[in-house]
Amino acid sequence: MSKDQAMSTRLIHGDSHGMKPYGSLQMPIFQTSTFEFESTAQGAARFAGQEDGYIYSRLGNPSRAVIEEKLAILENTEAAVAFGSGMGAISSATTTFMKKGSRLVADKALYGCTFALFNHKFRELGIDVEFIDFTDMKAARKALRKKTDMVYFETISNPTMKVVDIEKVAALAHEKNPDCLVVVDNTFATGLCCKPHDHGADIVVHSATKYLNGHGDVIAGFVCGSNDLMMKVRTVGLKDITGSVLGPLDSFLLNRGLKTLPLRMAKHSENAMKVAKALEAMDGIEAVYYVGLKSHPQYKVAKKELAMTSGMIAFEPKTAKIAEKMMNNVKMCVLAVSLGDCETLIEHPGSMTHSTYTEEEMKEAGFTKKLVRLSVGLECADDIIADLEQALKAAMKK
Ligand SMILES: Cc1ncc(COP(=O)(O)O)c(C=O)c1O
Repeated sequence: MSKDQAMSTRLIHGDSHGMKPYGSLQMPIFQTSTFEFESTAQGAARFAGQEDGYIYSRLGNPSRAVIEEKLAILENTEAAVAFGSGMGAISSATTTFMKKGSRLVADKALYGCTFALFNHKFRELGIDVEFIDFTDMKAARKALRKKTDMVYFETISNPTMKVVDIEKVAALAHEKNPDCLVVVDNTFATGLCCKPHDHGADIVVHSATKYLNGHGDVIAGFVCGSNDLMMKVRTVGLKDITGSVLGPLDSFLLNRGLKTLPLRMAKHSENAMKVAKALEAMDGIEAVYYVGLKSHPQYKVAKKELAMTSGMIAFEPKTAKIAEKMMNNVKMCVLAVSLGDCETLIEHPGSMTHSTYTEEEMKEAGFTKKLVRLSVGLECADDIIADLEQALKAAMKK
């Protein structure tokens, strides 16, 4: 494969180095936990890192290697490591580098379990954690005055759809401490809408459960970055701390999903733009948060940073009661958490994905119980809009 080829070509063919046995078109599922050595000398050389080759599937497996190569292509990083879930990726990446006394500055608006990990577990472990709003550069400058080891935020934040200026924040973090690791969760944007590493991020994490797989049938994650950082994440975070391994079958399914990612992201973005505009025009909807809308608070940053707008929308009906009734009245859209699937999914962050936040913390992070999150799927946009319209109408009835 050539680096000059288009992303769509490279996500189909990858860089699999002729690893497909018997001329198989698809990379087989290497359903094996361990790999035979030819001699004790070979086993010792592999453990010492003096010889390439597989040892044991917690450390590496050929079915996983192909998708790790593809993620490095997608995020324009030297390397990537696959995990058994997005949270496996996030906890492995962060705990590899953080210890008692380290300082983390994270955005206030994060996926609920990431927020819980930092807010509770990290503090219990003696890590100094501060939550700020990274769209406020004054607040960022103030927080980063104190020596900071890691900065963490999401490209498009879950659930508020905020867009942080990665370049500005990464430059500031590295100016204050050249060793500070800037970690960005790129789940909503995928490497197709935005490549945080190109904007200065050191580490990119993903829940691959979402767009990367795209079919709602796998739980997976990735961490992407330099060879040096990824070696540490693999040999410490994955091998010794979490052991959050992605199995060969799930790796195979993810490889299949990645082949159609460019097609799917283009359609998710196109559909979401139509749905966001329709929601804006609906009576009973007070606010719509979508990175493609001119009304988005960081529209200019989004324009600069995002090549496509992705399929995630948040909106606020007039009251929390209307929001609840609307979600209970959808007929085609599915009331379910997760995102990035073919089906349009609707959910309530306040009581579901972000129930790890107290009401006070939600307010601080910029959302309330009125907020509804929508992952716009690949159905016909008119059908999605019609379903939301009828659900809202039913919700508005006394
Ligand atoms: C932005 C974001 N990051 C991480 C995760 C966690 O991923 P997983 O559910 O694959 O562990 C999620 C899950 O919803 C998410 O939305």
